[in-house]
Amino acid sequence: MDTTVTPDTTNRDAANTHSLSNSRFLRACHRQPVDATPIWLMRQAGRYMSEYRSLREKYTILEIIKTPELACEVTMQPINAFDLDAAIIFADILPPLEGMGLQLEFVKGEGPVIHNPVRSSADVDNLQVRPPQEALSFTLDAIKLARNELDSRGIPLIGFSGAPFTLASYAIEGGSSKNRLHVKGMMMGDPTAWHNLMIKLSEVAGNYLLAQAEAGAHVLQLFDSWVGDLSPDDYRQYVMPYSQHAIDIAKQSGVPVIHFGTNTNGMLDLIRDAGGDVIGVDWRIRLEDAWNLLGDKVAIQGNLDPVALFAPWDALKARTQQILDPVKGKPGHIFNLGHGILPNTPVDNVRRLVDFVHEYTSK
Ligand code: CP3
Repeated sequence: MDTTVTPDTTNRDAANTHSLSNSRFLRACHRQPVDATPIWLMRQAGRYMSEYRSLREKYTILEIIKTPELACEVTMQPINAFDLDAAIIFADILPPLEGMGLQLEFVKGEGPVIHNPVRSSADVDNLQVRPPQEALSFTLDAIKLARNELDSRGIPLIGFSGAPFTLASYAIEGGSSKNRLHVKGMMMGDPTAWHNLMIKLSEVAGNYLLAQAEAGAHVLQLFDSWVGDLSPDDYRQYVMPYSQHAIDIAKQSGVPVIHFGTNTNGMLDLIRDAGGDVIGVDWRIRLEDAWNLLGDKVAIQGNLDPVALFAPWDALKARTQQILDPVKGKPGHIFNLGHGILPNTPVDNVRRLVDFVHEYTSK
């Protein structure tokens, strides 16, 4: 390649910005009509892909996340394999906790472990809120690299963060947890420590999202994966103000925000009121029922059961049609799973699903 010529990027950037804002995915985020329903899949880069597994033989997940070139490569793996309408930067929701002073490790077969979990108000006081440009520069650099690859293909890039409650879950429990005794213990038993923790987490999440938009992400997703474990009243009192704060900070960027949770059927109105241009829902509710509850001022993302990807194609296709039929032609639907794609998902079904959603909905 001739590296001596500096290309005139001004026109190219202008053209790409134009074609990107006209992309199906961004149009759907803004509830504008589209030529076909856009589709991307949560955790679309990961272990179900052989390309990812072979890279993981050489590097740990944290090494990949912290090496912008590798993170960019993994971001592109599903884009190269399938006709997806958006890329999501390869990272995880947990590295921001490292930046706050927690020791994070991904243990094989066990998942994430925090070696010094937050259990007291003194632990909360010790947590740092550092600028993302300093604590998480690797992901911001990966976003810049990924934009270089994606722009010429007209594919928008999603940045993301864990939401304060889901981050608090890992920070306090020290890993995955079934009943969240420690998290709810602090929430119910020491509201001052809880408030101080959630303020810090909302600032970390909000600043991180904003920095990702500034680095080039076109859309931001807030993952509140475990929020459905709360009662609606607890959500309203102990979580909603902090998610709202994180989203308010992120919205300073002007880019659309997707607000995602699972098991949220009893609190969808609250999730919507906390903020977000697009609300992500899981398969435990009919998509059209969720949309009726949410109203017409938000777009919706979802909501295929990730296990459906293991079914024979005819069964998978029928379930996909069941989701699409009631909302076909209504602007503002982004097809996705109701939660992340699972390890061992058959790659062929992913390809067929992506193509089918486009074919079936194309005008
Ligand atoms: O979507 C993408 O392609 C981007 C990458 C991405 C990862 N994690 C990479 C990853 C995203 C968006 C996440 C989000 C994430 N991480 C969430 C929220 C979404 C959800 O699924 O609920 C949560 C709760 C986490 C925390 C986390 N990271 C857990 C619990 C685990 C271990 C469980 C598992 O699936 O193995 C991870 C590890 C992880 N993050 C993997 C990937 C591809 C698999 C680990 C590996 O490569 O060994």
